[in-house]
Amino acid sequence: MKSIRVSALVPGMIVARDVFDPTGLLMLNEGTVLTTELITKLDFWGLDEVVIEEPSPSLKEQQEIAITPQIKAAHERAIDLTGSLMSNPEIRDGDALILKGMVGDIESQIQLNSNVLLNLCHIKTHDNYLYSHSVNVSIVAMIIGRGLRLDDNTLKNLGLSALLHDFGMTKIDKAIYDQDQKLTAEERIRIERHPVYGYELLCNAEDFSEDVLLGIKQHHERFNGSGYPDGLSGEEISLFGRIIAVADVYDACLSLRKHRPRMTPYETLKNLLGESRLFDIKILKALVTSMAIYPIGSFVRLNTGEIAKVIGINHGFPFRPDIRIYLDRNHQKLEKPIRINLSDGDYTQTYIQETLDYEESERMYVLFGDQ
Ligand SMILES: [Fe+2]
Repeated sequence: MKSIRVSALVPGMIVARDVFDPTGLLMLNEGTVLTTELITKLDFWGLDEVVIEEPSPSLKEQQEIAITPQIKAAHERAIDLTGSLMSNPEIRDGDALILKGMVGDIESQIQLNSNVLLNLCHIKTHDNYLYSHSVNVSIVAMIIGRGLRLDDNTLKNLGLSALLHDFGMTKIDKAIYDQDQKLTAEERIRIERHPVYGYELLCNAEDFSEDVLLGIKQHHERFNGSGYPDGLSGEEISLFGRIIAVADVYDACLSLRKHRPRMTPYETLKNLLGESRLFDIKILKALVTSMAIYPIGSFVRLNTGEIAKVIGINHGFPFRPDIRIYLDRNHQKLEKPIRINLSDGDYTQTYIQETLDYEESERMYVLFGDQ
């Protein structure tokens, strides 16, 4: 964390220490994502400085590269493999080994570049939500775990637990959890048993350690005790259970479901931090400080409708990289691309709305990939 002058604050920064007004009243909680309105208020109250979160050292060390077709294909393969294993609710001899190998591969990719993997989670193209969600939660959980400096073996077990967190859903009729209508009380009770079903199914397999099993059983428990199946609170919930809870909601918010639209990464994070009593704040912080939302080379749409490529990351401003705009709001090619730094005070009203999907990105790569 570091102190920043109020005049240098930009939307998207995260408050690392509670902020009090000159009379001693609490103005902003630790974990608040700054908006233009909040910054104006801080200025109005005459505050000089605010302590904000800095990205974790692991993020700074990363080499910044774009999603390559190979990484994309590996992600798709992981989803297919998870799907083929989860389409049968019996774990067979050797399955655990295959899953552990796959989680190990994902972990190595995260060591190399977690930005790229995280961005894969932001681009939603896969039809089968349950399987792609499982892989994405595994990725996000391991990124959080790395931010918390868990050792290699613990990280792999965490990734495995996260990959299988919804395994119990295989015992529930797809028509129930995939429907448009509101669930009946009976259906809700059945769905809320899925953490226990998963735990029981995998207990029998004897290949999974207790922390892996507890992560599965406790991923819907909430820090304030409002979750299920056991209504545990605080550190009664295992570390894996607390991490997977955050990773699960993070990926679910980014996904388009029948009953609600998808959120942007920025909205997702704001939503999670706004619900901070439900989650372990240490874990939310590890998520926020471990990510660069938009890797270099990715194409994005701005709130102005313009299309741009990310060309530089500004550490401390995960949502506000350097970009080069190629298409105007009417999708007409600019005669000369415009480079702007979104963390610059002149651009506080401009922000990234979304990452382009695979097809749009590929078209952009053909036109502007090497510029
Ligand atoms: Fe679940």
